[in-house]
Amino acid sequence: MTSRVTENDNGLSAIAERIRGRRTVKLFLKRPVSHELIMAAIEAARWAPNHHVTEPWHFYLLGPETVARSVELTRTVTTERKGPKLGDFKAASAAAIPGWLVVTCRRSDDRDREQEDYGSCCCAIQNLMLYLSAAGAASKWSTGPVTKDRRFYDLLGIDVEREFIVGLIWYGYPKVTPTQSRKDVDSIVTEKR
Ligand SMILES: Cc1cc2nc3c(=O)[nH]c(=O)nc-3n(C[C@H](O)[C@H](O)[C@H](O)COP(=O)(O)O)c2cc1C
Repeated sequence: MTSRVTENDNGLSAIAERIRGRRTVKLFLKRPVSHELIMAAIEAARWAPNHHVTEPWHFYLLGPETVARSVELTRTVTTERKGPKLGDFKAASAAAIPGWLVVTCRRSDDRDREQEDYGSCCCAIQNLMLYLSAAGAASKWSTGPVTKDRRFYDLLGIDVEREFIVGLIWYGYPKVTPTQSRKDVDSIVTEKR
């Protein structure tokens, strides 16, 4: 990997390693993440930059009853789109996820404001995922069909006129952590004098 900066002072290499080390995980152990840990991750998430300090995010932490209903909705939505075989498969995959968190963004009549607020919510999710990763847990940010379905909003009591879902964050302790690579830094940088 190409690195243009020296990362051996003030913990820079540690933070870079932490950022590089977070991976999207799809398979989790049954072991649940404690309420204390996910709340601490949410606390860290909200320190994301947000223009005009709008704090546009909201975090919906799903308990067992809501998760069970979300799994059934996943089955329904997938079956409607792709048939019962895939519906059952997606429901079984969803049922194996130990932690469910939905992050929303406040809507705005001002298009620029809403775009900036969406950016802030994405930063908040990254903070949350990094915090979980540093704690030995892992996550997956999903924007699958269920997150766009009105019935999911109704299930969670989200007012679709006021908020939109930025991500369904599945979290837990990783069973399998995939590897990933990135393009070389030189290929994504244009330096202007
Ligand atoms: C806005 C957003 C939406 C995503 N939605 C999905 C999704 O619906 N399904 C999925 O498998 N991964 C989803 N991901 C995760 C990406 O696929 C993942 O970040 C990418 O493969 C890079 O892997 P890494 O996170 O391990 O670096 C999403 C990521 C982002 C930022």
